[in-house]
Amino acid sequence: MRTLISNGTVITPQGSHDLDVLVEDEKIVALLQPAGTSENITADTIIDATGKYVVPGGIDVHTHMELPFGGTFASDTFETGTRAAAWGGTTTIIDFAVQRAGEEVRACLDSWFAKAEGNCAIDYGFHMILGDVTEGALKEMDTLVGEGITSFKLFMAYPGVFYSDDGQILRAMQHAHENGGLIMMHAENGIAIDVIAEQAAARGQTDPVYHGITRPSRLEGEATHRAIQLAIVAGSPVYFVHLSASEALEQVAAARNEGLNVFAETCPQYLYLNLEDHLGAPGFAGAGYVCSPPLRTKHQHHHGDLWRGLRTNDLSIVSTDHCPFCMKEQKELGLEDFRAIPNGIGGVEHRMDLIYQGVVAGELSLARWVETCSATPARMFGLWPQKGALLPGADADIVVYDPNATTPISVETHHMNMDYSAYEGIEIAGAVDTVLSRGKIVIGKDATGKREYLGKAGDGHYLRRGLSQYLL
Ligand code: URP
Ligand code: ZN
Ligand code: ZN
Repeated sequence: MRTLISNGTVITPQGSHDLDVLVEDEKIVALLQPAGTSENITADTIIDATGKYVVPGGIDVHTHMELPFGGTFASDTFETGTRAAAWGGTTTIIDFAVQRAGEEVRACLDSWFAKAEGNCAIDYGFHMILGDVTEGALKEMDTLVGEGITSFKLFMAYPGVFYSDDGQILRAMQHAHENGGLIMMHAENGIAIDVIAEQAAARGQTDPVYHGITRPSRLEGEATHRAIQLAIVAGSPVYFVHLSASEALEQVAAARNEGLNVFAETCPQYLYLNLEDHLGAPGFAGAGYVCSPPLRTKHQHHHGDLWRGLRTNDLSIVSTDHCPFCMKEQKELGLEDFRAIPNGIGGVEHRMDLIYQGVVAGELSLARWVETCSATPARMFGLWPQKGALLPGADADIVVYDPNATTPISVETHHMNMDYSAYEGIEIAGAVDTVLSRGKIVIGKDATGKREYLGKAGDGHYLRRGLSQYLL
């Protein structure tokens, strides 16, 4: 089965080139000069990409399908969440398997495999959350690295749930130094935050906006600084997840300037949404924007700094931290007290669009869009060049993106299992046109030209990952 994507502009981290892409079965087999060799090529399917960009499928390295949290479960299953991802041009996710206090890592991981297997529309891998860094968990870490689960998330936040103290963090980092794994850090000083949140609630300050007010950006900066010091002592790399604040970015940038293996991602919510207008929306609407770290104030320069960080590579990756909860019966658990609102925002469908909007706005180049959303995620998490590359031999995960179409974002049109959209009303000056996942068209067009989903649950395969390619 041969597919030719013709007349498009191929975008890679190296730049833009007018090339045709030839796919055979699940793989890319050639990039061809359009006016030359590809005229003689026969193909079963020809996708005309005239006037469109051809980019590697998006890789979202931070999702939480079906995550148990705050007495409920994230509302997207692996089936609904990966289908929504495909609609948005994402063809690989790396989700987080979760170990909590008192649980065995292996049993937890097995249960995540069971949730995902046979249900995913696109390819998927796992990181492991270590919520209880015991002797057993540390041993298991070494085994997991050999099995393709090469990254481990630790939490400096959520005492009593996922929290690790500095000693536990140091020990996990020492193991990463030995086994080549990558420590992913949720950097917020959870012990201090719990005190501030308790004091606010005691004063009757229970609205959603207090979720943000009680988690100062300084405490993300402090935790980021501390984690970097621990990583230096342990001799391990560290990767900061969902970085939201200028203070944290400063720490990452300073460490990178020293030549340390310190990396970070940010997420669209920290680039587009803010504390006052969203978390502070009237009534209980702000609950839809409760996530941790929280949305930051628009009166400082967080948004601008994060866009700059993406441009200058102090921020390497954009992920979504897709962790959706419906307003009804889920976010509503915190009607009386913001501390009971399940933390998380859904956005797996919108990442490619929202970061492309950064290209339109002049924040990023096309090459950097592809680099932060696909190529670097693949390299950072041991998937390159199978994923994230438009090269012969790579998986044919390809997005045809139309810069002349538009994408209105709304709960009325999205495909995530959520009863609201955090990005309601934003209109993207571009649109995902066609999506191939390992050579199969999963988002195509019907006879009227309307986009349609052509994949199915179970199309997605599990990805056994290698070590990060950014480490020596
Ligand atoms: O609010 C968030 N981010 N929820 C998901 C869990 C996490 O910390 O990533
Ligand atoms: Zn986190
Ligand atoms: Zn997360």
